[in-house]
Amino acid sequence: MAASTFTPVSLAPPLVLVCIQDTSTTWPRLRERHRLGLSVLAEGQDGICRSLADKKGNRFAGIDWEADDDGSVYIHNASLWLACSPYSELPGGDHTIVLLKIHGLKVEPDREPLVFHGSRFRRLAV
Ligand SMILES: Cc1cc2nc3c(=O)[nH]c(=O)nc-3n(C[C@H](O)[C@H](O)[C@H](O)COP(=O)(O)O)c2cc1C
Repeated sequence: MAASTFTPVSLAPPLVLVCIQDTSTTWPRLRERHRLGLSVLAEGQDGICRSLADKKGNRFAGIDWEADDDGSVYIHNASLWLACSPYSELPGGDHTIVLLKIHGLKVEPDREPLVFHGSRFRRLAV
């Protein structure tokens, strides 16, 4: 699923968070997994982001991705890959604040991230 509410949280242990709407039908399935792949999409991957947010059909149609030995899924050409596991969940109104523990990462420092602000996809100004 696509999530714009991604925030770094802690260094020890290494944690990030995403806020998931309580109506999500995807998160209940993801939270059961031992490991989860998180890809920070890169500039120009807005079509991929929209597709991954699709409620119907094959979200991965036309998208290049791979899975590691744990079954974690990663999107090709993203700017960052994080190997995560569900750590804890906190109530957050009509969302759930989901903390994810990081077990490994792969960074592509020259690949600018996709920016989503004001309900629009944008690019970083240099
Ligand atoms: C740019 C963008 C950002 C989104 N950010 C979030 C988010 O932070 N949290 C969330 O729960 N859903 C977010 N969504 C919606 C989900 O990706 C997706 O539509 C939803 O999970 C699909 O419904 P399902 O979980 O019931 O399958 C976002 C969608 C888009 C296009």
